[in-house]
Amino acid sequence: MRKLTFDKVLKKSIYKDRDALYDLLPKEGLVGRVSERNDLIMELAPILLNSPVASMFVYGTPGTGKTALTLEICNELKRESKKKHIEIKVVYINCSENRTEYSILLEILTRLSNTEVPKLGWSTKKVLTEIRSSLKNNTNVLVVLDEIDYVLKESGDDILYRLSRINNNLTSKLSSIVISNDLRVYDYLSPRTQSSFGRIKIIFSPYTTQELKAILANRAAKAYLPKVVSSAVLGKIADIESERGGDARKALELLDACGKISLARGKKRLTLEVVEEADKNLERDSLIKTLTGLTKHQKILYLTLLKSKAQTTGPEVYLNYVKACKSFKATPLSERRIRTFVIFFNELDLIHSEVGWVTNLKKKSRKISLNLDSAIKIKIRKKVRDSI
Ligand SMILES: Nc1ncnc2c1ncn2[C@@H]1O[C@H](COP(=O)(O)OP(=O)(O)O)[C@@H](O)[C@H]1O
Ligand SMILES: [Mg+2]
Repeated sequence: MRKLTFDKVLKKSIYKDRDALYDLLPKEGLVGRVSERNDLIMELAPILLNSPVASMFVYGTPGTGKTALTLEICNELKRESKKKHIEIKVVYINCSENRTEYSILLEILTRLSNTEVPKLGWSTKKVLTEIRSSLKNNTNVLVVLDEIDYVLKESGDDILYRLSRINNNLTSKLSSIVISNDLRVYDYLSPRTQSSFGRIKIIFSPYTTQELKAILANRAAKAYLPKVVSSAVLGKIADIESERGGDARKALELLDACGKISLARGKKRLTLEVVEEADKNLERDSLIKTLTGLTKHQKILYLTLLKSKAQTTGPEVYLNYVKACKSFKATPLSERRIRTFVIFFNELDLIHSEVGWVTNLKKKSRKISLNLDSAIKIKIRKKVRDSI
């Protein structure tokens, strides 16, 4: 390995402005997403005529540009309303930080009213009354609730119902956009909220290879010095990420990871081999992060699976798990609990598992397999074992 000095690294820099890779809203605007943009503009335009719009649902898998595009359009809406002398307030709330109905309502109130709002002590009803009265001055308000899936899963959909009811008060002009990363979000909505939130849906599909390549090219031109990143490298990153779920955030992270490796090695250009290496590293890091976050018994179970043969079955895994517990001086959990862990692992994509006919058991059972190359297996095994 080469010995680095700050001076060497800076002299050989391949970056022009590395932060440009992580800008949520690039100055020159987002690439593509024209039909989603048009939908949002069409639906929000009535606000500029001083009338509130219905509640909108925006959803799609992570990294498909939902937050970025929605905020970009909100900024355009604010600019336009200024020109037209229409008052509008946009209240953007990320629900991963505000996961209950109460904390969201309180946050909305804090942003709407200029007075201090007590953090505790007010009832939900009181907060709602205060929100209503601060809406009475006839300003248009657009509430954006981003990553609503956190709230729906943890505290239900009351907040959406409340929002849809606030407009029953005729003098207020509240519009809302709700954004979700989970496509099954409708399963979490009660019929009463479905009827008010279900009408306008804007779906962000995963990015295709071409779209990812265009996004990457645009950022690479700002982040790297000329000639550092070739079109072939961009194409390869776009290919990898479109196959994996079309996530622009991950594509940009991979582009950055390639830069870091090349910089450390004093290379002036990114190569296709570096893309492969950086991708493997990122994949391994994210796997390790997931695994080290598991509970002790889940880790023991995962270790058992790592040691099993290419394909194994539910009952076999349980036997091996019980054996493994001995070496960790842990009391084994019931077979039923372990079955729920296996289903959970499957949902996290840690394993492949399906119920099917198992010849040597002569009955239907859960077949489990784990698809990792052996170098990664060894590394992971050590990390998981050390973290127990
Ligand atoms: N169409 C696009 N053009 C340029 N950058 C994009 C585009 N879509 C997503 N990005 C970038 O990818 C990252 C993830 O986008 P984001 O809007 O946060 O996704 P989501 O909210 O759907 O998870 C952000 O840095 C964003 O700037
Ligand atoms: Mg987002």
